[in-house]
Amino acid sequence: MEMERGREAFEAAGEADLAVEARDEADLSADAILDLMLTVLSDGLDHPEIWGAVPGFLDALPDLVGTIQQRLDHEGGSETRAALLILLAMCGGATGDPGLMAERLEPLAADFSQSPLVHGAIFHLRGLADPDNPKYRLAGKICPNPFVQLDVLARASYLCCSNFLNTSVGNMSSRSWERVWNSETAQAIRESIHDGSYRYCNKGTCPAIQANGLVPAQEMAGRSEYWREILESAATRLDRGPESVNLAYDPTCNLSCPSCRTAPFAADEKMRTRFEALQERAILPLLKGAKTVFVTGSGDPFASKNFRRLMEQLTPEEYPELRFQIMTNGMLFTPRQWGNFPALHGRVKILKISLDAATGPTHELLRRGARWPVMLENMAFAGDLRARGQIDHLEFVFTVQTDNYCEMGDAIDLAKSFGADSVFFARMTNWGTFSADEYAAKAVFLAEHPDHADFLHRMQDPRLRDPIALLGDLSAFVAAQRQAA
Ligand SMILES: C[S@@+](CC[C@H](N)C(=O)[O-])C[C@H]1O[C@@H](n2cnc3c(N)ncnc32)[C@H](O)[C@@H]1O
Ligand code: SF4
Ligand code: SF4
Repeated sequence: MEMERGREAFEAAGEADLAVEARDEADLSADAILDLMLTVLSDGLDHPEIWGAVPGFLDALPDLVGTIQQRLDHEGGSETRAALLILLAMCGGATGDPGLMAERLEPLAADFSQSPLVHGAIFHLRGLADPDNPKYRLAGKICPNPFVQLDVLARASYLCCSNFLNTSVGNMSSRSWERVWNSETAQAIRESIHDGSYRYCNKGTCPAIQANGLVPAQEMAGRSEYWREILESAATRLDRGPESVNLAYDPTCNLSCPSCRTAPFAADEKMRTRFEALQERAILPLLKGAKTVFVTGSGDPFASKNFRRLMEQLTPEEYPELRFQIMTNGMLFTPRQWGNFPALHGRVKILKISLDAATGPTHELLRRGARWPVMLENMAFAGDLRARGQIDHLEFVFTVQTDNYCEMGDAIDLAKSFGADSVFFARMTNWGTFSADEYAAKAVFLAEHPDHADFLHRMQDPRLRDPIALLGDLSAFVAAQRQAA
């Protein structure tokens, strides 16, 4: 009887293939169900359909918790262990305190800072603990990115920023952009938006999810005929190419920030030749149909010979519809450099300058190789361009970590003094430059960090409620403290 109910519960979870497999199993015990769940979770993606079915499993299989605990006693592999801890927390969340279970999983968020599975599980538990908060309800809402965006890296491409959606849809160095854009994986990602699972997305760090910024499907369908067709037919293969292309294949940079790299990097001759070929064969044709090009999230646009060449080629005559999003560390953003790129003049939708600080010592510590007096001059020049309408929007970017969180409020004052339109704050994730322990020491936004209480206090700085402050994946910390007060 218990086995029968276990099977029903698994089928209810919507895992059709595994349920069919399970039907043929003679003994569908807690052990067998656990194996099936671990198989599903081994893809490292989020599986809200399983989380939703956990109460049913518990009902059908009273020994499930004991079985998970036994496995944990013997399991050595860190990924399977993480999946077991998640399942245990889900069982605890279904019968007890989901908020507490989410906190128990927080240490995993430091070890697996890029994992959609770990962050998705914590997100689900937080949603159970805060059932009236609409940000936790994703079904029926649409994120447009996977339908309009392509981020091109050196050997991989993504349908969103790879910080939040780190499954590659293909390599543009060896395939045409059309094949990559509609690859099987690309289609599976779009399906996960239609079905509301968002299983490929990192729900803990995605600013759109954290700020409850996804759009109701009905509203999206009303935006254009194109969107109405996509949503009505749950289309995953798209006739149109991306509107927005993010060029992130060249990591060449004039700085070497510790959060980003362990040593300075500049592309050598061979690499530059490869990037040049990619640009000529794929990027320039792709950009003919695009509306915005983002240069760059990988290095610095003004330090890279390839990006500099491309910015010269994208003239208004050849690309009349195209507009630029420029992201830079700002050190090379001088009047002379600006003069070298007439194709940018009057065509920059947004200029993002990363500061990660509001004072010289912090800036120079976190932006290795930068000099604060130069930054002050260059920020003033950027503010002047903004005031003269040469750029549409000026944004300062602040990646939050232990060494700079005390300067978040001051960054708002600084931005205003230069006439910036916004300051974008985001959590620092581990890009592989830190060990798990080093990252945990820098991740002040995680509940177990010794300075977390002070961080929460700083998050209540009224300056961070200014409309120019974009809090992205830090928004919840303002709301959390307000509720507690
Ligand atoms: C990699 S940089 C590329 C563009 C340019 N070089 C710049 O610094 O703005 C893009 C952004 O990533 C941020 N960043 C660096 N390390 C990060 C990390 N470990 N986690 C999240 N963001 C990070 C930087 O602060 C910057 O705002
Ligand atoms: S929901 Fe977030 S992670 Fe997913 S595609 Fe949209 S912006 Fe990217
Ligand atoms: S300036 Fe940007 S690309 Fe360069 S090292 Fe720093 S974060 Fe990385």
